[in-house]
Amino acid sequence: MPESIAQQFKSLLDEKLSIDLTRGKPSPSQLDLSNELLSIAVEPLTEDGTDIRNYGEPLGIYQARELGSELLDSPIENTIAAEQSSLLLSYQLLLANHLFGLNGKPWKDIKNPKFICPTPGFDRHFRMLDELGIEMLPVPLTSDGLDTNILQTTLAEHSDIVGLISVPRHSNPSGDIYSDDNILKIFELCSEYSKDLVFLFDHAYLIHDLSNAPSQTPIWLLAEQAKVLNQTAILTSFSKVTFGGGGLAFFAGGEGTFSLLKKIRDSMIICPDKVNQSRHVTFFKNKANIIIHMQKHAAIIEPKFELTTSILKTIPHECGTFSSPTGGYFITYKTVKPIAAKIIDICKSAGVLITPAGATFPHGIDPNDSVIRLAPTFVEADKLQKAIEVFSAAVQIAHFDIEI
Ligand SMILES: Cc1ncc(COP(=O)(O)O)c(C=O)c1O
Repeated sequence: MPESIAQQFKSLLDEKLSIDLTRGKPSPSQLDLSNELLSIAVEPLTEDGTDIRNYGEPLGIYQARELGSELLDSPIENTIAAEQSSLLLSYQLLLANHLFGLNGKPWKDIKNPKFICPTPGFDRHFRMLDELGIEMLPVPLTSDGLDTNILQTTLAEHSDIVGLISVPRHSNPSGDIYSDDNILKIFELCSEYSKDLVFLFDHAYLIHDLSNAPSQTPIWLLAEQAKVLNQTAILTSFSKVTFGGGGLAFFAGGEGTFSLLKKIRDSMIICPDKVNQSRHVTFFKNKANIIIHMQKHAAIIEPKFELTTSILKTIPHECGTFSSPTGGYFITYKTVKPIAAKIIDICKSAGVLITPAGATFPHGIDPNDSVIRLAPTFVEADKLQKAIEVFSAAVQIAHFDIEI
């Protein structure tokens, strides 16, 4: 077997590949699904007479807020339709907490504020928290959300935990879907710990389902049931629905988080791009149409996930395991030995770029050097096949220490 893997790898080397699997981006054919947006005509005035060409409506035009409230199951008055980036909204919310604080307790006045960070997670979340001087406390994900035993111990061991950031559906990169019970338990443990602890739910993959994705009670309803709306923030965007960097972002939050975000945005921006909001409202009209649109995305993405999985299945079990997500943009491979960085280097030598090892952990350090994030959506199937063949050979070369 080692000879055949080495042989296979050498012939892949000869192909001089150049394939980038580092970021979870939509493919051009997915972007084509929204081409109508490039030329859609919008009226200068909305149904209720708002002039989209001028300043005004800092919380977004009513029809866009209505769309956001349908998606997030939140009341319109608690929903903001903003610019194109939910990450920007997350940063604004963190900054508002740093400067002003939930319940009037700014994080800047706390000596060593800390955040619960489910791992593996999204590198840009860790970057934002780090920039604000927040210590990150990793808590592992199980297959249906956070390990609540470890969460409980972490809460008991630390003072000054000011927040918890999570991607509750098709988590980046593990694909976890947090169960309702898991979310309710998180609410119970953390709100007992502190009513000032902010729950930041980054719902980037809220509607990015493949077939067989299980349902989930909306976070808004769970937060309402657990009486934690004041400390809850939910964000999503159209970045992987229409255009990356050209969609709309939405926020929903209870009185506490809503007024914080509103306060900081009032200082930062006079109003969002209402023309783009109007385009999206005209394009989609309602949630039902958005879901139909997402099924078209799924029809493009699902075969790529299946192709990736079919090749990963050929790697001997003793080398590691991989996730089988029902949506989102990533598949994770977890090695048994601490060889993730080595595998990624081997892939690079064959012209295949994978997200750097450790990127899915705070400070870029995976304590076990074992989690690898694969992003199969952007490249076309023939290139994807080659890239995952390289990956599969690289895993075995590193695991069995095969000479090449
Ligand atoms: C978990 C998560 N949040 C946020 C984003 C970025 O979203 P946006 O484009 O709305 O800022 C991404 C994109 O990769 C993501 O994976």
